[in-house]
Amino acid sequence: MTHVKRMTQQKGEKEQKGQKRQKDRMPAFDIIGEVVVVEVPDGGNEKEIAKLIMKKHPRIRTVLGKAGKREGEYRTRKLKKIYGRETVTEHREHGCRFRLDVEKVYYSPREATERQRISEMVKKGESVMVFFSGIGCFPVVIAKKKPEVGIIYGIEANPDGHESALENVRINKLGHLIIPIHGNVKEKARKYFGKCDRVVMPLPKEGYRYLPEAIRCVRKKTGGMVHFYFYEHENDLFKESVKLVKDAARRTNKRVRILNKRKVLPYGPGVWKICIDFRVCGSE
Ligand SMILES: C[S@@+](CC[C@H](N)C(=O)[O-])C[C@H]1O[C@@H](n2cnc3c(N)ncnc32)[C@H](O)[C@@H]1O
Repeated sequence: MTHVKRMTQQKGEKEQKGQKRQKDRMPAFDIIGEVVVVEVPDGGNEKEIAKLIMKKHPRIRTVLGKAGKREGEYRTRKLKKIYGRETVTEHREHGCRFRLDVEKVYYSPREATERQRISEMVKKGESVMVFFSGIGCFPVVIAKKKPEVGIIYGIEANPDGHESALENVRINKLGHLIIPIHGNVKEKARKYFGKCDRVVMPLPKEGYRYLPEAIRCVRKKTGGMVHFYFYEHENDLFKESVKLVKDAARRTNKRVRILNKRKVLPYGPGVWKICIDFRVCGSE
């Protein structure tokens, strides 16, 4: 091997090692429009991490560090500004536009595939109810994918989430298909009892408390589908969630049939976000 060749090879090896070190230092992050949310590991250099992310993604204007767990009714978390100040952004998902303030509302780009999966099941003319609808991402994705849907309602408690939902319905030109409703599911769902073909419940932590409302929203004669999310440990996936669904059915005096049980996304060590798709049987 010539001297020059050896030098080039050594340089290549050095670069590879450097890249690997960089990769090792790079924690997982989410890109939401022009904003990045990153989990800086203990002892990690946040400025260095922000610099690396921005070098790779030149569109990014703001880098935020996770500064706590998701908490409270609105499922938001404290975020630390590492680079930039602007937290309002526009994100694109499956051809839909979502405007949101990353600091004030819940939104996770990791759940995009799940939104697609649900939208694929929606049939022509259906009335769809989305509980806990946040910035309106489930309703907007469903309406975009299935413009032949009947109507989609979305109930959201966080006023900032509701405002975002109104704006997202407008900018995606879907006002004829989606009705965003501001308030608590416990109170607002009543008006829709017996009026829906499908109910989506994307609140895995507390959503089980609203199973009776979801079941009651389904049409009495023809029945309908409910998509229920929950967190379960992999030691006994689906055990607790199936029990919760059956309990709610008993309390509402309805028959239910579980059609599908699925892992959606990993949540923590050994814990998964799961989804139970169940049918509430009608009287026909
Ligand atoms: C896990 S987030 C899901 C948001 C959105 N569906 C999504 O997929 O991005 C749950 C949402 O439910 C809202 N929420 C929590 N409890 C609620 C309630 N009782 N009634 C209405 N909305 C509620 C929160 O503010 C939050 O936006």
